[in-house]
Amino acid sequence: MEIKKVGVAGCGLMGGGIVQTCAQSGYQVVTLEANDELLKKGLGALANNLSRAVDKGKLRQADMDAIFSRIHGTTSVEALADCDIVVEAIIEDLELKKRLFSDLDAICPEHTIFASNTSSIPIIEMASATKRAERFVGLHFFNPVPVMKLVEVISTIQSNEETVRRATAFIESLDKKAIQAKDRAGFIVNLLLVPYLLDAIRALEMGLATKEDIDTGMVLGCGYPMGPLTLLDFVGLDTIYSITKILFDEFKDPKYASPPLLKQMVKAGFYGRKSGRGFYDYRSK
Ligand code: 3HC
Repeated sequence: MEIKKVGVAGCGLMGGGIVQTCAQSGYQVVTLEANDELLKKGLGALANNLSRAVDKGKLRQADMDAIFSRIHGTTSVEALADCDIVVEAIIEDLELKKRLFSDLDAICPEHTIFASNTSSIPIIEMASATKRAERFVGLHFFNPVPVMKLVEVISTIQSNEETVRRATAFIESLDKKAIQAKDRAGFIVNLLLVPYLLDAIRALEMGLATKEDIDTGMVLGCGYPMGPLTLLDFVGLDTIYSITKILFDEFKDPKYASPPLLKQMVKAGFYGRKSGRGFYDYRSK
């Protein structure tokens, strides 16, 4: 069954990026948010992204209008009932995700594929809340979604081959590179990335070097586009903190344990760019 209409639950940083990418690739997209305020905020950020591309001369105004005409925002889960695939990108709260998938399971047709963009929760935990575990996969995008070329396709012990094939073809139709991973918390990228980011915080905590020199070390020494502390601010310290809790809970390995400084910053509301303060100060920008 061909994928024509895409549902995206959540229109935040990741969900909004997925909506934009799908609409730019020609799909009809319905995006679900918890309330009107969040929906307006998400669609506003998306419009800003596209307007910047128009201002830079990289996108024609007519194309931006066409992309927008393919996006429909909603606060009602019923609006996703005729989607061929639903990608969930809401907050990392397992109970909320399970409730959402269970609601969707009751209204979506049998052929609809369910996918979660979770960064670390095992997919099977959500699949088991539905009666379509064989048509359930993980599709893990990277921030900023419209720019980053990679998506991890995660199959559980119940996902069937046809679903994995259709989900992979869908990702390729977005002009992204799909890599296949098993359903193990962290998948491929976060299993490797998260300990690296946490070690950068530990280096700062122990007074090894300044934050600027830690970042410069990895940018100029290893050719990374951003240093680890800048990347932490970019991804969101609250997001990384919740990932550490899930990975530590799963593996009980100290390399995934949150450094005290990360916890303190999250409790203080220093989430990084999105809140104006993280390892660096963004309030004047
Ligand atoms: N949304 C859409 N487009 C964006 C964007 C955004 N938020 N941020 C930047 N861009 C676009 C710009 O418009 C520009 O496009 P153009 O070349 O067509 O003009 C292009 O990206 C490059 O942007 P800039 O010139 O402003 O800046 P940089 O060259 O410094 O690139 C970057 C910015 C792409 C973010 C680059 O710094 C980068 O690759 N950083 C690392 C990002 C990364 O590691 N992401 C993965 C995070 S981990 C994750 O997401 C997993 C999760 O589970 C934790």
